[in-house]
Amino acid sequence: MSRIAYVNGRYLPHADAAVHIEDRGYQFADGVYEVIAVKGGQLVDNDLHMARLERSLSELRIAPPMPRRSLKLVMTEVLRRNRVRDGSLYLQATRGVAPRDHPFPAKCRTSLVMTAKRARPFNRRAFEDGVKVITIPDIRWQRCDIKAVALLPNVLGKQQARENGAFEAWQVDEEGVVTEGTSTNAWIVTRDGELVTRQPGNAILNGCTRLALIELARKAGLKIVERPFSVAEAKGARECFLSSTTALVTPVVEIDDAVIGNGKPGSLGQQLLALYLAHAEGDAGA
Ligand code: PDD
Repeated sequence: MSRIAYVNGRYLPHADAAVHIEDRGYQFADGVYEVIAVKGGQLVDNDLHMARLERSLSELRIAPPMPRRSLKLVMTEVLRRNRVRDGSLYLQATRGVAPRDHPFPAKCRTSLVMTAKRARPFNRRAFEDGVKVITIPDIRWQRCDIKAVALLPNVLGKQQARENGAFEAWQVDEEGVVTEGTSTNAWIVTRDGELVTRQPGNAILNGCTRLALIELARKAGLKIVERPFSVAEAKGARECFLSSTTALVTPVVEIDDAVIGNGKPGSLGQQLLALYLAHAEGDAGA
C-alpha cells in the first residue's frame, strides 16, 4: 500500500508530495511542527500536542492553518488513508509561500503538511539494556520552548552522538547544567529517590511525554521536583532516563564515560515506562 501525505488541502501519494521552493519553512525554517504518537488508531495526548502547536504558532505570529477541530479531522483522515494504527503522525505548519524576503509577507497562507508512518518494531534492547548519552555544549537559540523546524544544532548534536556510539546527546549550558537532549527531555533520580527534570522555560521544549509523566508520577505518589541539574549530578545519580513521543521512557546507563548506578536500567524509570504505556493505551484519543 502506498503512503499518502496531506499537503495544503490535498491528499497526495507520498512520493509526489511537495511544497513550493519559496515556502518560508524551506527558506527560513519559518515554521513549527509536532510529532504525535498513535496507539490503536488513536492520537496519544493529542490535547497536549494541540495546545503546544497553538502556542508555538502564536509565539511566531503564524496564523493557525485551521481550527483545532478541523485539524483533528484531517489528522484522523491521514491515519485512515495510511492505515496507521500504531505509529506516529508528523505535522508541520509554516508561514507559507512568498517571494524570499526576511520580514513577514503582507499576505501569506499558512502551509500545512502531514505524514503518518507505522511504528518501527519496538526497540526492546534500548529499554532492556539502557542507552549511552554524550554531553555537548548547548549552542541553540534562546527560544527552545517553541517547537520550531529550525533544528540544525539538534541535527549536529544527534550526529555527534551517533558517531560516538551514543543514542542521544544531552545539551549543556555554560554553567555545566543540562538543558535537554537533541530530541528528548532529560531526567535523573537522586540518591533520595526524587525524580528530577528541568522546569519549563525558554531553555527546553516542554515535552508532552514529560508533562504526561509528571502527572502520572504525581498520581502514583512519587516525589518529583522540577529543577535544573548539572552533568556532575547526573553522573552521580541513582538512575537517569530520557523521554519523548518516540523514545517513551528510555533508561540512560552511561553518560560520556561514567556508568550510571549499577549500569542497568533503574526501577523508577521502569515504573514510569509501565505507567506511560498503560496511559497511552488507555488515554489515547484525547
Ligand atoms: N522531539 N526536546 C526536544 C528538543 C524535542 O525535539 C522533543 C521531541 C522533546 C520531547 O517532546 P515530546 O515528549 O513532546 O515528544 C524534547 C520529537 C519527537 C522529534 O523531533 O522527533
